[in-house]
Amino acid sequence: MARVIGIFSGKGGVGKTTLVANLGAALTHVFHKNVVVFDSNIHASHLGLHFGLYDDLPVTLREVLKQRTPITQAVYIHPPTGLRIIPAPLNFDGLNLTKEKCKSLVGQVKGSYDIVILDCAPGLGSEVLAPMCAVDEAVVISTPDLASLADTLKTIELLKKMKKTVLGIVLNRYKHQKYELTPEEVASTTNYNILSVVPEDSGIPESISKGSPVVMSHPNSASSKVFKKLSARLLNQPYEDASLWGKLLGVFKRKKTSSQLPLQPVVQPQESLKSEVENLDNVRAELVDEIKTELKKEIKERIRKRLREKLNE
Ligand SMILES: Nc1ncnc2c1ncn2[C@@H]1O[C@H](COP(=O)(O)OP(=O)(O)OP(=O)(O)O)[C@@H](O)[C@H]1O
Ligand SMILES: [Mg+2]
Repeated sequence: MARVIGIFSGKGGVGKTTLVANLGAALTHVFHKNVVVFDSNIHASHLGLHFGLYDDLPVTLREVLKQRTPITQAVYIHPPTGLRIIPAPLNFDGLNLTKEKCKSLVGQVKGSYDIVILDCAPGLGSEVLAPMCAVDEAVVISTPDLASLADTLKTIELLKKMKKTVLGIVLNRYKHQKYELTPEEVASTTNYNILSVVPEDSGIPESISKGSPVVMSHPNSASSKVFKKLSARLLNQPYEDASLWGKLLGVFKRKKTSSQLPLQPVVQPQESLKSEVENLDNVRAELVDEIKTELKKEIKERIRKRLREKLNE
């Protein structure tokens, strides 16, 4: 049975779709896995664009949701990688992907794949609860700033309440600037591993404009290597950079101790999520209040720390 992994973020625009497209492409092209990526962000669906698929497709989730066309007819192949894509329409017209529907659609495809990756809506609303119900494992992506971190904490809390396995955090668009939160700060605030730090890379917007994931269009770019390494990590496999310089670095690394621990799920999925699903709306309201209070404390403390650091400089 396939692993079903969701890519979530509290804040919008932090790189979920980019991560889904590149993980899907790398897992298929480099690691030869049978993977399908599913665009569950039906109100702002962009996944197809990362593969050059536009709105002239005969079948998308629109037809699946409106006309009950089988989901298997909405699966497209990306020939350069062999990745399968289930796109949503660019035009949202009264579609609604409920929790039950999302779970059922994922259930209908997962038997044919090793891994199903869901591209999710941002935030904590009903649009994100649907894919949250459908996945077993989750990766949370954040940018290195307080606003994104605050929303990341809320997303993690919600995933934990729903008994999902949170694999860790991907920190995206890192520029090594003093004003940014460091990976260590994000890890210590969230209590989760940083799975990868993706650098700011102009190759990413360029690749999207070409309709090809950066792991294909710029395979040796810094971000591309991070996406491939992360794919290996998700498979608990070692990754060796195929370039000559990468091979040399690999030799040095092997000579040191193998410091990378296998993924340790912090939260184990439960057998039955039925009761959790029923109580979701209440849980969410309670959580938002709880988290708001905690966050205010956390942010105040962080600002104090920053000020102290500034005064000491
Ligand atoms: N590491 C990066 N370097 C440079 N640009 C990036 C990087 N990651 C993402 N971007 C850019 O950020 C923009 C937003 O990325 P993306 O669409 O993947 O975010 P998202 O989280 O899926 O957004 P939404 O919440 O709207 O679904 C894109 O235009 C992409 O080009
Ligand atoms: Mg997106």
